[in-house]
Amino acid sequence: MAKSIGKNKLNCAVFISGRGSNLKSIYNYSKKKNSKINLNLVISNKSNVEGVRFAKKNKIRTKIIKYKDKIEAEKKILFYLKENNIKFICLAGFMKILSKYFFRHFKYKIINIHPSLLPKYKGINTHERAIQNKDQYSGCTVHFVRQQLDSGKPIIKKKVKIFNSDTPESLAKRILKVENRIYPIAINKILSKN
Ligand code: GRF
Repeated sequence: MAKSIGKNKLNCAVFISGRGSNLKSIYNYSKKKNSKINLNLVISNKSNVEGVRFAKKNKIRTKIIKYKDKIEAEKKILFYLKENNIKFICLAGFMKILSKYFFRHFKYKIINIHPSLLPKYKGINTHERAIQNKDQYSGCTVHFVRQQLDSGKPIIKKKVKIFNSDTPESLAKRILKVENRIYPIAINKILSKN
């Protein structure tokens, strides 16, 4: 069993599939004296990604879960969550959808960050779609996770202006900076209420 290092802090796992910039911002937040979480575990379905390299370098326990069979993969994840006494999950660019089975077995809070102003543009290619539709703003949303994709209650939403000159890449880059800023704020907000 993992020990709770910070007193009164909730043991948290971050689920990733890639770059891990939100993982980094959650990690930096977890290191602050007044943060509400210990970052005990990183789960990734990919091994050779920046997020995993960051986690290992910073000595965060990291488990790579290959998804040949969803339920088998989730059983393994649930095992590690229990083993590490995880009471809170942050999804951060995790490209797998959690099943009914998972929600039945993990009863604590799960949150996610999505690069659009939900309920607009659920799913992928959010920046392309916002630009194509000539929206003036896009942004990002931290929200509770329910079984339906990108559909839980929002915790924080932040608008980001779309410029005429924007490409999906330039917009993604600007939104990502905001994502990295608001994810820890959202965590703090929901865990301060407890
Ligand atoms: C972010 O844009 C997040 O909103 C989306 O996936 C991306 C992950 O980026 N769900 P990173 O791996 O945290 O850098």
